[in-house]
Amino acid sequence: MAVEAKPIISHSYTYQDCLDNSKRVSWKEDDILAGKNFDFSKRFLPNKLTGVDEIECLNDDEKRRLNQIMGNAYCHIFAFVEEFIIPAITEEALDDVYGDEVKLRALLRFAEEELKHQQLFRRSIDLFGQGLGTECGLIPGREEVAKVVRSKSKLAVLLLTSVIEWFTQLHYIEHVRDDSDLDGLFRDLLRFHWVEEAQHAKQDMLLISELAEKLTLEERETAIDEVIELGGAIDGLLAQQIGLNIEALEKVTGRTFTAAEKEEITTKTQRAWRWTFLVSGLEHPNVAKIVGALTTEGPGKIKDVVEALSA
Ligand SMILES: [Fe+2]
Ligand SMILES: [Fe+2]
Repeated sequence: MAVEAKPIISHSYTYQDCLDNSKRVSWKEDDILAGKNFDFSKRFLPNKLTGVDEIECLNDDEKRRLNQIMGNAYCHIFAFVEEFIIPAITEEALDDVYGDEVKLRALLRFAEEELKHQQLFRRSIDLFGQGLGTECGLIPGREEVAKVVRSKSKLAVLLLTSVIEWFTQLHYIEHVRDDSDLDGLFRDLLRFHWVEEAQHAKQDMLLISELAEKLTLEERETAIDEVIELGGAIDGLLAQQIGLNIEALEKVTGRTFTAAEKEEITTKTQRAWRWTFLVSGLEHPNVAKIVGALTTEGPGKIKDVVEALSA
């Protein structure tokens, strides 16, 4: 009797479930934004995702402002990274257009939802600028960055997508959902994003497990190196955005920070953002499960990166 080979990644997800859930939770941008405004008397993100409470050179009002500026930039960074996910997932869908219709439809919805998320975040950024009355700088170059990401192996692109999808959910569920002191509209943005990301994370897992079966261990190990390299590029983008956040805070508060104050704000918000955009994804139990199943050296490499980013 033939014994079926054990899959490299075991999971219980199906495209049918993802498609059914996607249809059930689907929303339009107006459902969230129409007639709504941000309440600038409140913070937008919990301290875990901004680190403002650790900054000694700012008073409470300034900390709230910086928190809001970082919330706006958080939306921008999501719209930014979703730029590479859309073509990557569309390509996966086009891989077998006359094959499994359920898979095709689930993947096409996945790509369309990401485009919708980008539009939601861009609209929220416009609304933020109008409410604040000051334009806040946001890093440019999303198409160039998407090109760099897509120059890597398919597995690396899907793994990076998976890291992002899982941390999106963790941020909302563990840090935003129960924090009623935060602005209601901002929490809604993250809640509506999360309900669709929940399906994306599962579809990533499905795609990664299908692809893994076609790759050698060496190819899978290399994909981890590529993800780490891309993580380094993301860290550089975060540093650029942190510089812009400080410029925006100067404009909004009318203060000019000394070099030492700028350094303090940079160090403390960078530590929080490294956790937010890198560590919380790399350490996510589901990401750890994927990396551990795909490779032998990956978990050790990821652990080293996490340690360096958490220093
Ligand atoms: Fe998204
Ligand atoms: Fe997504």
